[in-house]
Amino acid sequence: MATTTAANTPPKATARTAAADASAATPEVQVKGVTRREFLYYIWGASIALLLAETGGAIIWYALPRFREGEFGGVFTVGADTLPPAGSPPVLNPVGKYWLSNTDKGVLALSAVCTHLGCLFKWVDVNGRFECPCHGSKFQANGTYIEGPAPRNLDRFELTVVAGATSTVSDAAGDPVPADGATSILINTGKKIKGATHA
Ligand code: FES
Repeated sequence: MATTTAANTPPKATARTAAADASAATPEVQVKGVTRREFLYYIWGASIALLLAETGGAIIWYALPRFREGEFGGVFTVGADTLPPAGSPPVLNPVGKYWLSNTDKGVLALSAVCTHLGCLFKWVDVNGRFECPCHGSKFQANGTYIEGPAPRNLDRFELTVVAGATSTVSDAAGDPVPADGATSILINTGKKIKGATHA
């Protein structure tokens, strides 16, 4: 009897093979006419398209200028005819937050913000210097520290003197740029140059 029972029971391997055959024979599941494989392709394609759109958007965002001309953070253009004569009192541009100072060594644009705690200083004509009303720091017309709690000279903005077809950009220290023959001056308020610290 025992021999008969073993002969009637199919081997396990044979049962698995039969199940695999049955599975292979079953058509791929479809949902509303889209196979599972097609659905995964669509998801993959949509993900790639989204990634490309995000990357393109980020590139455009960084490539476009953040500030427009004539806006703080952007470039201000000053005609040579409106440049203060050399040695005359500096002129404030309240929108650009800079003082345009024409010294005997050239022109420079000084940030209107005090290097101590950020107050707005003023030009005091009778004393021929900048004076901060908050804690009394004082600076020369070229931004050099004179006295008071400010730790450094006034900050400067990058400046370009355009003279016909040539243009001269201020150096890394923001030193005055000679304005002889200038047709216009460009002040880049998006590029601040930190004033040198004093002893
Ligand atoms: Fe100008 Fe303090 S903020 S001296």
